[in-house]
Amino acid sequence: MALIPGIFSSDMAIDLGTANTLVYIRGKGIVLNEPSVVAYHTKDGKKQVLAVGEDAKLMLGRTPGSIEAIRPMRDGVIADFEAAEEMIKHFIRKVIRRGTWTRLKIIVCVPHGATPVEKRAIRQSVISAGAKRAGLLSEPIAAAIGAGMPITEPTGNMVVDIGGGTTEVAVLSLGDIVYARSVRVGGDRMDEAIVSYLRRHQNLLIGDSTAERIKTSIGTARMPDDGRGAVMHIRGRDLLNGVPKETEISQAQVAEALAEPVQQICDAVMQALEATPPDLAADIVDRGVMLTGGGALLGDLDLALREQTGLSISVANESLNCVALGTGKALEYEKQLRHVIEYDI
Ligand SMILES: Nc1ncnc2c1ncn2[C@@H]1O[C@H](COP(=O)(O)OP(=O)(O)OP(=O)(O)O)[C@@H](O)[C@H]1O
Ligand SMILES: [Mg+2]
Repeated sequence: MALIPGIFSSDMAIDLGTANTLVYIRGKGIVLNEPSVVAYHTKDGKKQVLAVGEDAKLMLGRTPGSIEAIRPMRDGVIADFEAAEEMIKHFIRKVIRRGTWTRLKIIVCVPHGATPVEKRAIRQSVISAGAKRAGLLSEPIAAAIGAGMPITEPTGNMVVDIGGGTTEVAVLSLGDIVYARSVRVGGDRMDEAIVSYLRRHQNLLIGDSTAERIKTSIGTARMPDDGRGAVMHIRGRDLLNGVPKETEISQAQVAEALAEPVQQICDAVMQALEATPPDLAADIVDRGVMLTGGGALLGDLDLALREQTGLSISVANESLNCVALGTGKALEYEKQLRHVIEYDI
């Protein structure tokens, strides 16, 4: 079907992710991309916002007693309502002038598995942050649109969005979801797996941000061919004597640490395939699977998935931006995609 863009305004689309929040403005594209973190300062019993986004992320795991850095989203939904609202308000203020707020409409994407209560919390926080209307769009639909998949055609398309908190596997046809499943495994779980591997195997305690750095630098879903791969110097605390310690970790060790979360992602894809009606499953065998989200960038994850499922796997261009781009596109082409945007729940 032909899609006609809507007229320009400051209506926006928000990808309120567990790890990152992205804001898209109609007619402009993505204008903000920052970590979903809020830091509070408590003085004389009063709590004040100290930093939001990039600046607040630098404080995670490094705060003194009077400062608290919070990640308001967990598993793709709001875990701390007050902090989520502060964060959304801060980001909206950063990207648009106040005068243009009066008719502000915002579309936010939500995990497919979000409950009505969780959806209402997201909608409410956007309204409290200043929007007049808030529409919700299912994340797998947004991811598929953002990855450029032909979701309105009568063929089966599978998208796997691997975020910080969740992995959503969905099969889409004719512009809607035929099957979707959300598993609470994503980038955060991978970071935790690296922390716990080093604790168990090297008596070394590292912070979550060091684990994330290991994952994004040398992380891999498959054992390296030479059995060791690249190595990275790391620092942490020796659990035996409590002093700082420097050591190294190899790609083979990271692959071992990540084996369980990677397996859980493979299992979710297999289950989706088994639950998909046969004609649509045959389409997926022909067309392959599209990976989106930051977790899709894990080294060799596409290869590991191909080996386990036998399907051809592609990683979307701009995989970290797909959900925001897709939600933005839904805003631009709202007339044609009206049936998938929920305004009243
Ligand atoms: N090169 C990389 N290799 C592995 N993981 C990566 C890489 N780059 C980013 N990530 C991970 O991707 C995750 C963030 O992805 P994304 O922004 O898609 O999540 P999110 O949308 O905030 O979360 P969710 O969709 O679960 O709410 C983080 O855990 C981050 O560590
Ligand atoms: Mg996401």
